[in-house]
Amino acid sequence: MTTLHDTTIRGFASDNYSGVHPEVLAAIAAANDGHQIAYGEDAYTARLQEVFAQHFGEGVEAFPVFNGTGANVTGLQSMLPRWGAVIAASTAHINVDEGGAPERVAGIKILNVPTEDGKLTPELIDREAWGWGDEHRAQPLVVSITQSTELGTLYTPEEIRAIADHAHERGMRLHLDGARISNAAAALDLPLRAFTRDVGVDVLSFGGTKNGAMLGEAIVVLDPAASEGLLFLRKLNMQLSSKMRFVSAQLIALLEGDLYLRNARHSNAMAARLRAAVEAGLADGSIAGVSFTQPTQANGVFATLPDGIADRLRESFRFYDWDAARNEVRWMCSFDTSETDVDAFVAELGRLTTR
Ligand SMILES: Cc1ncc(COP(=O)(O)O)c(C=O)c1O
Repeated sequence: MTTLHDTTIRGFASDNYSGVHPEVLAAIAAANDGHQIAYGEDAYTARLQEVFAQHFGEGVEAFPVFNGTGANVTGLQSMLPRWGAVIAASTAHINVDEGGAPERVAGIKILNVPTEDGKLTPELIDREAWGWGDEHRAQPLVVSITQSTELGTLYTPEEIRAIADHAHERGMRLHLDGARISNAAAALDLPLRAFTRDVGVDVLSFGGTKNGAMLGEAIVVLDPAASEGLLFLRKLNMQLSSKMRFVSAQLIALLEGDLYLRNARHSNAMAARLRAAVEAGLADGSIAGVSFTQPTQANGVFATLPDGIADRLRESFRFYDWDAARNEVRWMCSFDTSETDVDAFVAELGRLTTR
């Protein structure tokens, strides 16, 4: 097999542009020989349950799935009746980046709330938390938050506790989209359970793909009373892999030791380096006209650029527009982003904005 791409090119488009971490690839290879029972009755999926219990405590149940959309859609579906609605930030992946799958596949109404920074608060939740018992309104029964958020920001455990209490007092459950949960754990320097189970999160999507896995996420049920029928819904939603041992082996590789933290700390550090270098450039005049639109708290940097610069910078490094109308872009760092990548990117940004 010939390598078909230039392996020296890395950009800032997404943390899923990266390859597979070598330790994850080795874990897949180690699980490869011989036969194992298909559809999750394998030794790796059994071990994965123990690994999740070590991180989140006894009594949790993990359902490995293929991707983050599948984890969110299936997890949420297990939390809601047919007439249920979920309250989420308007920027939430479930609202803008899942092709309508929550609505079309799971039949869930999303009640979305605009936010400044991708974060819900009890006050923002209350804009949509009303109308229970009114047959004309989809019933708000779940709140969904994302940690770290789609805007690269973080909730503190206290903020999540306040949201969980607020939701629970009103008969709603709390779901967490953890596509980047490891980045949050690294940035907060806290165990995974400290900002999830311990503060009232009921069900979460645990992300592996953006943090060094080839593919694979898990729906983790933290409170069994909050979720029903996942065994069947996972299959119905086409998220049941027959060779599940390979999804589970990847998540074990990330979570059994500290690989999930090592990878996330690195991608967070590269985003911090990128931001600091641009700030330094703005201060000493080697970069001009760049403004940051969000704090950099995990592995994403959000900024506005002078007219025309994004496309010229993209000739050397790939990245996405976030809000093209105001020249806002998103720069994401991965577990394999290097200091050299960041420095070369910043140098090119400087060249383009000052010449
Ligand atoms: C916040 C968030 N949730 C979930 C996902 C999972 O998406 P996918 O279905 O592409 O794995 C992503 C990926 O972009 C994401 O950013």
